[in-house]
Amino acid sequence: MNVTPFWLAGRPATGGGELTVTHPYDGRVVGTVAVPTPEQVEEALAAADAVAAEAAALPVHVRAEALAHVSRRLEERSEELAKLITAENGKPLMWARIEVKRAISTFRFAAEETRRWSATTQRLDTEEGGVGRLAYVTREPKGPVLGISPFNFPLNLTAHKIAPAIAVGAPIVVKPAPATPLSALLLGELLAETNLPAGMFSVLPVLNEDASTLVQDTRLPIVSFTGSVPVGWMINDEVPRKHVTLELGGNGAAVVLGDSDLDWAASRIGLFSNYQAGQSCIAVQRVYIDRSVYEEFVPKLVEVVNGLVTGDPWDDKTQVGPLVSTDAAERVESWVNEAVASGAKVLAGGTREGAAYAPTILADVHEGAKVLREEVFGPVLVVQPVDTVDEAFAKVNDSKFGLQAGVFTRNMDIAFRAHRELKVGGVIIGDVPSYRADQMPYGGVKDSGVGREGLRSAMTDYTEEKVMVLTGLPL
Ligand code: SIN
Repeated sequence: MNVTPFWLAGRPATGGGELTVTHPYDGRVVGTVAVPTPEQVEEALAAADAVAAEAAALPVHVRAEALAHVSRRLEERSEELAKLITAENGKPLMWARIEVKRAISTFRFAAEETRRWSATTQRLDTEEGGVGRLAYVTREPKGPVLGISPFNFPLNLTAHKIAPAIAVGAPIVVKPAPATPLSALLLGELLAETNLPAGMFSVLPVLNEDASTLVQDTRLPIVSFTGSVPVGWMINDEVPRKHVTLELGGNGAAVVLGDSDLDWAASRIGLFSNYQAGQSCIAVQRVYIDRSVYEEFVPKLVEVVNGLVTGDPWDDKTQVGPLVSTDAAERVESWVNEAVASGAKVLAGGTREGAAYAPTILADVHEGAKVLREEVFGPVLVVQPVDTVDEAFAKVNDSKFGLQAGVFTRNMDIAFRAHRELKVGGVIIGDVPSYRADQMPYGGVKDSGVGREGLRSAMTDYTEEKVMVLTGLPL
């Protein structure tokens, strides 16, 4: 099997070692990836640093054209990319195809945003001393970005690091997840087709244990990390003087109120607790159901979950494939077993076969169980009845996480109340917490992280304001 090169300052390179990528469904080898030496990592960092001023000064049309080019090429190679995602991550083709579509939009949105990214002016004659003066305000890149992306959306979450960096004229060094580096490396190939200056991007499949060199290097003043809670906060603590954005975990909650469309709610919750085998930070994990409709709703949900097509991710009809590894599925199994040992009832699923865990619904789960309190990152859903909206919202908020929440209601007063009262980064009314549009702000509070992604939000995050005051104007 050919070794896939990494991208070092815009050109392909092979290096010190190799990383084997295996398919979670059957364990076969799907790729071998070159790993950079410490000297090559140094070369990439020096190149990012050296090109920073040139990158910041790049005309907007050059940045926009590079981003639009990547978007177009992703579209042209979309089926190949979807298969690459399925091969390395194990997510069913149907979800891999959706991920590619999203990445196409992510780069397109960035191309559009960069054209809108413009200076503003501010009148200063609001006070006597400011008469004849005007502030001209730009946003300048804070410097080269380190983007660390996770295995669960190996293409689109890498796109969310790269696209806003290019949009604002910041060099970026990407470290993809070692389990799933192939899609990020293909993105590197598409970026290499553009006219961006050498050094503006590197994609380095550095092992996790060696990532600290990148995190600590002062030439990368921004760290944008998506991944696990402990690693995220460790990075934050390791480099207090850097600008760190963390997109961490969640234990997504949905509230189903009595006035909602129960069939719609069941179909959405059943699917989105299990999409990508639950390996999304905004998968539905907890469902709080108005007691008046609990007995009617739960059988509908069980029917949806039992009807999901599980198995071979290469089959077009498969909705739920394997987790990323057998170890991950065994951890999910142990958490479910722990809940069952202390009284939980299994309404669906509850079985494991290798890396695959069956879509599972649990009721009567005790409040301290890991399946409620932690992030399962697997296809497990906990249902509980609630008597009031107050109780439902209190339960949603009784979590160390706060990424997104979904509220199924048609009542706009309750919708605005949810937006005010739920301690999360995003509230989705009439749908699951798993809804995400790539242009909207996305991120959490509490242990779910700090900062926001979404093109405009990330562009703001990667930059800071710079003011020029013009004096003596005839204003
Ligand atoms: C995540 O798992 O945080 C990303 C979810 C998404 O982009 O849909």
